[in-house]
Amino acid sequence: MTGRPRTHIAAMPSYKPGKAASEAEAEHGITEAIKMASNENPHPPIPAIVEAMTAAVTGVNRYGDNTCSDLRRAVADMIDVEAESVTIGAGSSALLGQIVDAFVDPGDRIVYPWRSFEYYPILAARSAAEAVTVPLADGHIDLDALAAAVTADTKLVFVATPNNPTGTAVTTAAIGSMLEAITTDTLVVIDEAYREFNDPAHGDPVTDLLPDHPNVLVTRTFSKGQGLAGLRVGYAVGLPDVIAQLIKVAAPFAVSNVAQAAAKAAIEHHHEIMDVVGELLVERQRVTERLGAAGIEHPAPYGNFVWIPIGERTDDLTLALERTGIVVRPFPPEGIRITIGTSDQNDRWIDTLIAHLSEGP
Ligand SMILES: Cc1ncc(COP(=O)(O)O)c(C=O)c1O
Repeated sequence: MTGRPRTHIAAMPSYKPGKAASEAEAEHGITEAIKMASNENPHPPIPAIVEAMTAAVTGVNRYGDNTCSDLRRAVADMIDVEAESVTIGAGSSALLGQIVDAFVDPGDRIVYPWRSFEYYPILAARSAAEAVTVPLADGHIDLDALAAAVTADTKLVFVATPNNPTGTAVTTAAIGSMLEAITTDTLVVIDEAYREFNDPAHGDPVTDLLPDHPNVLVTRTFSKGQGLAGLRVGYAVGLPDVIAQLIKVAAPFAVSNVAQAAAKAAIEHHHEIMDVVGELLVERQRVTERLGAAGIEHPAPYGNFVWIPIGERTDDLTLALERTGIVVRPFPPEGIRITIGTSDQNDRWIDTLIAHLSEGP
């Protein structure tokens, strides 16, 4: 192989992003396909963010602030921690990569529920770690089983809440009990990519867990609720000496000045952002009611997507939806994940789904 890649890298799979709408259009000879496969926000960023980005864009001949000091301070103030407890990264994906680079040696164990975020196995493979997966219990994360899977050589546990792709969530109280069962030598990463869509009653790990558990790291993103997926900006919160390790392995100037300005504007205009999120939550409720009325079983969703555990019919349903211009994320033979879109988009996929399922297998 050219350039002799590291053996474990040559053997590892690539991340498979959701199919692009243009790919589906070319494959099926259709127009106006919509991508509902990557849990993106269907709405463009709010005007205040567009203004902040526009103002920042003329400065891109310079690198952005390497430590993102203004944004770091704004995040720290927003969540009421010291700036040293926060680091900004190029999306939470980049931060998860920094966590693995900083903490995992080849042969260490990384424990996570499965099915969960598709990037976790890749992160484990990238560091030549042993991935230990703990099956979901009926779509839900089994925290007792996760704790039981942690051994002395487990460096990391990933807990996505809400979980991708099932949309189920765990409470901070339940995570707290899991933390009591494992030593502080194992970092527990609470991946809150969908935080804005979650039920606040599930708790806030920064205030509920971090003060008493030095091994907790929380990752969050501006990609989903704030609608900045294409800009790549997120943050991690943890103990300052844990955060300091992540900073060491960040690529220089990884977060552009445009992304920093946009994220700062998102914090300053949090209420407007939550209005957009609120509209999507109303839609999510309407979607689950329509699915329920049609007898289509699905776990209660806490992210901006729904999980339909359709089993062996995953592939034919995905194809049927794609032919009508709806691109979803299939996980055969388990089910499909569909992002909450606008009302029109949601009605389009629900109508197709109901029609297809009524035709029988
Ligand atoms: C559970 C989870 N974590 C992290 C991410 C990464 O998001 P980003 O890198 O855009 O911040 C995603 C994206 O889909 C996700 O589903």
